[in-house]
Amino acid sequence: MTPELLSLARYLASSRARFNLSEMNRYLSREYKEKELYESLKPHFFDLDLFCDVHYKCTKLVNTPLPADEQVIRELEEMLKAPHLPPAIENLVGSYIERSCGKNWHTGETARLLRENIVKQKEEYWSGSSKYPKLRVITYLLYHFPVYFCQFQNLLLDLLKGGLLTTKMSIVDAGSGPGTITLSTLDFFNRLLEIYSRNKIDVKINLRIDSIEKVQENIDIYNELTSLYLSQHSHAKAAITVNQPVHAPVEKAEPPLDADLIIFSNVLAEMSAPPAQRAAAVERLASESRNPTVLLVEPADLVNSKALRVTQNALIKNGFTVYSPCTFLWGAVCTGGDCWSFREEGNIRVPEFMRKMSGTEEAYRYLNTDMKFTYVILRRDGAVEHKYRAGGKFARLSHLKKHVKKRINVVVSVMSGNLGDDEDLVFKICDGTTSIPCYAVLHSYHMNENNRALTEAGYGDIVEIFGALIRENREFSSYNLLISRSTIVIPVT
Ligand SMILES: C[S@@+](CC[C@H](N)C(=O)[O-])C[C@H]1O[C@@H](n2cnc3c(N)ncnc32)[C@H](O)[C@@H]1O
Repeated sequence: MTPELLSLARYLASSRARFNLSEMNRYLSREYKEKELYESLKPHFFDLDLFCDVHYKCTKLVNTPLPADEQVIRELEEMLKAPHLPPAIENLVGSYIERSCGKNWHTGETARLLRENIVKQKEEYWSGSSKYPKLRVITYLLYHFPVYFCQFQNLLLDLLKGGLLTTKMSIVDAGSGPGTITLSTLDFFNRLLEIYSRNKIDVKINLRIDSIEKVQENIDIYNELTSLYLSQHSHAKAAITVNQPVHAPVEKAEPPLDADLIIFSNVLAEMSAPPAQRAAAVERLASESRNPTVLLVEPADLVNSKALRVTQNALIKNGFTVYSPCTFLWGAVCTGGDCWSFREEGNIRVPEFMRKMSGTEEAYRYLNTDMKFTYVILRRDGAVEHKYRAGGKFARLSHLKKHVKKRINVVVSVMSGNLGDDEDLVFKICDGTTSIPCYAVLHSYHMNENNRALTEAGYGDIVEIFGALIRENREFSSYNLLISRSTIVIPVT
């Protein structure tokens, strides 16, 4: 790439709404083929705000939120309703496993070793000390990858709905492992572009994905899987660059310049620093970005889930604001203490390679299909998913002590699915004013049209509750808000 080429491209990009790459030859000291020009300039299209299609026609790419029309959202929701690895990804991972472990990896000694490793990895993971020797990387693909891949697309959908996905995005996958989040993102954007084209919505996108990873084996798989995926899935309306991962701990890697979206998916728990101090690594990585969306995801188990809220709170203290799932309904920010709250998105369909792995004996030990995760989406500009704020007619949850045995009105976010059973439904609720756990409890025989909305609220949705009876649960140091036939629940988001 000569400086002459780049400065001419920069000039044309800033002065013309569109041009053909061949036109550049008019101004250059030697003649280039269009393909040559395209290949040399390709790494610079992102910074030049250019979109050049396969016919070498270039247009200026205006960065705007991606269209989130009702029909588009409906189709995406439909797609995520039956969660599964798309066949292309299933094949990609399945063939990688075959290439690494042989065609018959799911039988004999290899299968025994892999199964043993899955069990070990689970134990290590929950104790927060996961390591990645070679075989474990394969077992990660077999056991953890499918769920994490699928669950992440729910969060991308949230970002799309909120206008936080735009036509030109620089994305950073921190602690990228084998490429779960990068591949999930590529697949999501591909399917989104197909939906746009079916609905005759003309959208062009330019994505740049960078990643940081400390373990070389993961980097090798990341490179292999992402480059294979990209070679098989080019889209006429997408210019996508996936850069080689930076081999470093996130605590030490150079912070990326002006990233739009920074993701830590299942990484924080692996850091040796205590939860509050993990915030420093997140903050540092976001320090050179103007207003990034920072997305932290962790498993739903008690320890990792609570730890994420502590990290979240430390970030809030340092100027980040929560977009979702928490809504601070009374304006004040909670302490993030003793908060075990996670989202559930059901089960994914078992991918063929996981089914092969599970075998016939005690298959359940090797099947991992349950999407349960703790997350927070942070910003620096105060953007929020739900703008609703509480007013005077409601009691704060921090004042429940003085309302015990009384019926009161509250407005709360629903911060869990049903934690009880079909008879006794229990939902964690929160209004951001207290760290004492509070639950709305509805016996099924009290469920009616007045209060059904409680059971239909999505994770993080806000409901007004009129006439809940307050009970203190001394054994668990918590409060129950009993929802009876006469209690009225009104969804407000
Ligand atoms: C559980 S895996 C998650 C991989 C991927 N993000 C996902 O959600 O599937 C954690 C990854 O983070 C990497 N990791 C852990 N601590 C790290 C650190 N301090 N810096 C960079 N990478 C780290 C590990 O090597 C591993 O690849």
